[in-house]
Amino acid sequence: MPIERTLSIIKPDAVAKNHVGEIVSYFEKSGLRVAAMKMMRLSKAQAEQFYAVHKERPFFPNLVSFMSSGPVVVQVLEGENAIALNRQIMGATNPKDAAAGTIRAKFAESIDHNAVHGSDSPETAKQEIAFFFKPEDILSYVPENELA
Ligand code: CMP
Repeated sequence: MPIERTLSIIKPDAVAKNHVGEIVSYFEKSGLRVAAMKMMRLSKAQAEQFYAVHKERPFFPNLVSFMSSGPVVVQVLEGENAIALNRQIMGATNPKDAAAGTIRAKFAESIDHNAVHGSDSPETAKQEIAFFFKPEDILSYVPENELA
């Protein structure tokens, strides 16, 4: 299986409820490694730019306001099949549909306040990682040429 990198955000709801460590532990226990990590508060402009793909959706204004409402923890996760594996660990976007044992089943309140974000494809992962991190900020566990 390919070694990949994916972008994860622990959202303002989960940070506010002091669940950062527990959520990171879900990733680590599933075999993903934290290759970069920072805590920050997104500006409204950063949230709009990060979620630009959703700008025509009715939930966009709420999404931007929520994502800029408090601190987030942004990480690069690395490991075999990291993009799909992270999505599996997070569970469905709507916690009502999230399988038992997933992060969203445990920590998400609603589709709007759903604890975590994760990249949905290799292309998105590259863009989203570059949005937050310079190459030298990523402390990889594998040589660059072994990454998918
Ligand atoms: P996320 O993975 O961060 O990507 C976009 C976010 O928009 C999503 O998680 C949800 O929190 C939020 N959202 C709100 N309503 C919807 C919806 N109907 N469909 C998809 N995402 C939604």
